Amino acid sequence: MITKDISIIRDRLIQGEPIGLPTETVYGLAANVFNSTAVSHIFKTKNRPTTNPLIVHVASISQARALVKRFPEKANQLANAFWPGPLTLILPKNETVSPMVTANQENVAIRIPNHPTALSLLNQLDFPLVAPSANPFNRISPTTAEHVDAYFPSIYTLDGGACKSGVESTIVGFEGDEVVLMRHGAISIEAIESRVGRILNRTSGSEKALVPGQHKKHYAPACDLIVTYEPLFMLSAVKQKKVGILWYQAVQIESIHVDVNLVLAPSGDLAEAAKNLFASLHTLDAMGLDLIIVERLPAHGLGLTINDRLDRAATK
Ligand code: TXA
Ligand code: MG
Repeated sequence: MITKDISIIRDRLIQGEPIGLPTETVYGLAANVFNSTAVSHIFKTKNRPTTNPLIVHVASISQARALVKRFPEKANQLANAFWPGPLTLILPKNETVSPMVTANQENVAIRIPNHPTALSLLNQLDFPLVAPSANPFNRISPTTAEHVDAYFPSIYTLDGGACKSGVESTIVGFEGDEVVLMRHGAISIEAIESRVGRILNRTSGSEKALVPGQHKKHYAPACDLIVTYEPLFMLSAVKQKKVGILWYQAVQIESIHVDVNLVLAPSGDLAEAAKNLFASLHTLDAMGLDLIIVERLPAHGLGLTINDRLDRAATK
């Protein structure tokens, strides 16, 4: 069920029920962080392993501070630079946050979403919201209320329109004086380094991956998916019958006989590509194809985030 009425959503949350939450990155499946029954409901609804911790969404830096033991200076700099926004900070939790939320870890993930409807809701609640992305475990993340409703028709989803960033938040942690990248996301490494200098890379592609639950297979459509710099070369090598190609900037003319050709970002703008990524995968996923071939993006800025999501979608 989709609604624009914040008071319905507020009531559901107070009753301990999960709701679909719009954010600037992707839609979340949200519940009261302080209600353990509601939190366990989130894991069940998503079919998510309880070893995979949840991100907490707050309305303000002071609400974030109330959940943690320490807020390092570099965390403060990053929060001031990017909040509200798609940056999640991993900080030492205090006793107010239940171990169920953090999957028994000492740290909690926190961000302030940059979405007017989400902020308005959070400001009307006296508790923060846990919200993992609103997709069943391993499936494509939702970037519209309709995507959420298709996955979870029996819960209320607050309609906040199409997500502006379209990929999940960037996650960083802190080790001594160092900032550590744990998940590529909607804010590029370059943007973070322009604020705090060089940061360490511990994303799941790197040797010392840190984020638990960054499962290799994720964001997956129902059919096979291949990521490549050479879609046409790949096309000539595959046996599947009904094929769709998702191009980065433009359709190559030789692919006119392919069943479907979609383009992520005609302008070549990587932010536009990120915004369209999951919606394009949802569209292709609904077409009953045997195979989706996706053109790999340039490996810098948000291209790294998009390639990370595509590589997981391609994992069997
Ligand atoms: O943009 C986003 O971050 C979206 C929107 C809804 O805010 N949320 C989102 O949540 O992407 P989810 O659950 O799909 O991804 C959260 C990631 C998982 O890989 C999880 O393992 C990691 O954050 N995470 C959560 N809490 C953590 C913690 N305490 N320590 C380390 N990693 C954590
Ligand atoms: Mg997710």
